Amino acid sequence: MSFLIEQCTFFELTEDVLATCQPFSCGNADLDDFFLNDATRYAHFLMGKTYCFRLNSDPSKIVCALTVSNDSIRIYDLPRGRRDYMKSLTHHEKPLRRYPGVLIGRLGVSSEFAGRGIGSEALDFVKGWFYSSSNKTGCRFVIVDAVNDPQVLSFYEKNGFRPLFPTEEQEFAYTMGKKDTPVKLDTRLMYFDLLKLRQEN
Ligand SMILES: CC(C)(COP(=O)(O)OP(=O)(O)OC[C@H]1O[C@@H](n2cnc3c(N)ncnc32)[C@H](O)[C@@H]1OP(=O)(O)O)[C@@H](O)C(=O)NCCC(=O)NCCS
Repeated sequence: MSFLIEQCTFFELTEDVLATCQPFSCGNADLDDFFLNDATRYAHFLMGKTYCFRLNSDPSKIVCALTVSNDSIRIYDLPRGRRDYMKSLTHHEKPLRRYPGVLIGRLGVSSEFAGRGIGSEALDFVKGWFYSSSNKTGCRFVIVDAVNDPQVLSFYEKNGFRPLFPTEEQEFAYTMGKKDTPVKLDTRLMYFDLLKLRQEN
């Protein structure tokens, strides 16, 4: 049973929705602030669209919110092994430098509803949404910039996401352009290959 599909309704997060809902809190102050204060401006400038699931029995409650935007994986910016792996995933008629994807830039589940599988349902929803034949563009990957916290990384791994860079040191070197002492990254890039859905069906 899917809580989000059966007990919630999907909306674009607009000023009107925000005005009629209780403040959303997922326990991460930066994310809460983004959904409340920045999300609609991102949408206005077409930089990211934010959606939410509202509880049917009390539509003033936002159960889950997420932001998506177009993105790509630049395979020549990856370590050689990972680049070769990416190349092996597709046809070679015309070599592409960028593989298309959708970025989940933000994802939060209301603390009231955390730990019930709702975040995983939200990821399944996005996967199905962008894999769907009604999607207007080719979209091979779901990409996330996951908070670099063991619980969050394990949440994405359990949902079939893999780190784009095999190690944090490589991600630091390739994305920051530095080869010296790595700092701890705030986020880790991870991806889910939507073609997996075809193999599962
Ligand atoms: C990460 C998040 C979306 C997961 O949503 P959820 O509905 O609780 O997730 P699920 O119930 O599907 O999965 C639970 C798993 O998430 C993991 N998790 C990640 N962050 C967690 C958190 N802050 N609290 C509890 N569990 C968390 C746990 O490992 C848990 O695994 P378990 O079931 O083996 O214990 C949600 O905890 C959240 O909104 N956190 C704050 C914002 C955030 O960190 N967002 C991710 C940004 S990339």
